[in-house]
Amino acid sequence: AGWRVRHFAEIDSTNEEARRRAAAGDEGDLALYADTQTAGRGRRGRAWVSPPGNLMFSLLLRPKAGPARAAELSFATAIALHEALATLTGEGFRFQLKWPNDVLLDGAKVAGILLESATGSDGALEFLVIGAGINLAHFPDNTPYPATSVAASLGHHVERRAALAEVLTRLGHWVTVWEREGFAPIREAWVSRAAGLGERITVRLSDETIEGTFAGLRPDGALDLRLDNGASRAITAGDVFLPG
Ligand code: BTN
Repeated sequence: AGWRVRHFAEIDSTNEEARRRAAAGDEGDLALYADTQTAGRGRRGRAWVSPPGNLMFSLLLRPKAGPARAAELSFATAIALHEALATLTGEGFRFQLKWPNDVLLDGAKVAGILLESATGSDGALEFLVIGAGINLAHFPDNTPYPATSVAASLGHHVERRAALAEVLTRLGHWVTVWEREGFAPIREAWVSRAAGLGERITVRLSDETIEGTFAGLRPDGALDLRLDNGASRAITAGDVFLPG
């Protein structure tokens, strides 16, 4: 699918704009990016610091699938971000993915994804908004886990427009794979880039913090956590802390 790309000098949130356009009947395959956001949002109700120089974009999609499968495309997006950053910097081995769909650079967060979807009265997926922020030039402090930027860690200047073009090409490929073969190949590509696989991790849920071994990604995208008593637990929402 060809993407229609729209640019904004300043906006509240590209995710919010994508939702407005969905409500106004936009057909999808739309990419919106902004120089800055005044109300950028992150996962779990956090704000997303959005200074000029970083890439902030949202994609509006209208996939023909049930709402339960929406998250599968956020994993595809994380892979596309990883591939794009690897290609543009030539330092692919330093990037890894962290559940659910952060991108790490030398173990610090360099990009994040926020998925928002709407379901119609018939229970079908009406639209999907995948928002991503890549710290190309700047990164915030006071984050719950270490953060970095491409410029700070690699000394590379990656141009926003080049990064967006690369991500869109890669994601177009993965969406086609997803339509033809489902989640399995995406799951495999995600796991091959995952940080902390087989290691002890800490997961902070809204009401408790648990520890266990990161055993893999379940077929539905949940994190598979093996507890010390041998039981396995599916994590569908939470903050993951890797060792080191
Ligand atoms: C996270 O918490 O890791 C997700 C961050 C997602 C930020 C992006 S920036 C573009 C889009 N618009 C937003 O308001 N949020 C997403």
